[in-house]
Amino acid sequence: MNMAERPRRLRTSQAMRELVSENHLHAENFILPVFVKEGLLAPEPIANMKGVFQHSLDSLRQEVESALKLGIGGVMIFAIPLERDEVGSQATNPEGILHRSVKMVREVVGDELVVIADLCLDEFTSHGHCGVLDEVGLVDNDATLEIYKVMAVQLASAGAHMLGTSGMMDGQVGAVRDALESAGFQETSILAYAAKYASAFYGPFRNAVDSQLKGNRKTYQQDPANSREAIREISLDVEQGADIIMVKPGMMYLDIVRQASDTFNLPIASYVISGEMAMVESAADAGAIDRKSAILEILLATKRAGATIVCTYWALEVASWLHED
Ligand code: PBG
Repeated sequence: MNMAERPRRLRTSQAMRELVSENHLHAENFILPVFVKEGLLAPEPIANMKGVFQHSLDSLRQEVESALKLGIGGVMIFAIPLERDEVGSQATNPEGILHRSVKMVREVVGDELVVIADLCLDEFTSHGHCGVLDEVGLVDNDATLEIYKVMAVQLASAGAHMLGTSGMMDGQVGAVRDALESAGFQETSILAYAAKYASAFYGPFRNAVDSQLKGNRKTYQQDPANSREAIREISLDVEQGADIIMVKPGMMYLDIVRQASDTFNLPIASYVISGEMAMVESAADAGAIDRKSAILEILLATKRAGATIVCTYWALEVASWLHED
């Protein structure tokens, strides 16, 4: 057979395949999520999150030093306080665990990597919701925004370069942007969890933050059935001053990542979440898949879908693989 078109010609060697490869993984584009728990003296493993720990302030420092050495782009800090209450008071305590962690991490890394603070109430409330509740027990959107604004200014002054607005309250990006501008933090950026779905795959994360949540977050996180709604949510965050837009979960919502990157001219981030990681780890443990190639494939697929930034618990390990190559 004489054939003009033989796509296999471009797959004949590793060098040839690399020559034509369209997407690459870079440690600089990874965000490493980290957990720190008030009162811990040593790191504690997290159920169903292999290789991920609740850190003490000391072990968090070591983790961040590793991230720095491996050239990771950013770290995103989640903190678990000792005391929780209805309104999440520790979220606005300038000496609280989140604030102290941000301060410490910023001192360690300076401007060498991007320090991102999670801006949400779920780790701080006794009921585990991302906002405060009204008299009938529903999440009170606008009352929550007032708390987010205080948190935003405090976390920026603690040294966060960027704030991750993950609570899915309406108007949260605008409220936070306005508070930051008014307080003189014009350069503090916002990583907007713009399209965040009410996912069953957050399970292990809820262990990671000792979540108190009963029920679900369906009145504020998005319905997995919808994609046009995601575009609406993202548009609103862009109008309100988001600097980066994030899609979450990542692995199962690559269609949303693709639509977002086709529609908006902001950097797109995708968060490969705890339950997605757990599925891969379990399948690898069972011998069903090759762990390393599965992880690389997932992260590359995220890039191919249009994400520049990948938020992943595998960031350190993958960065060390990239260095070995
Ligand atoms: C809530 C928050 C969640 C995650 C990050 N921020 C959980 C939730 O919405 O219930 C999940 C991340 C993961 O599963 O890896 N602020």
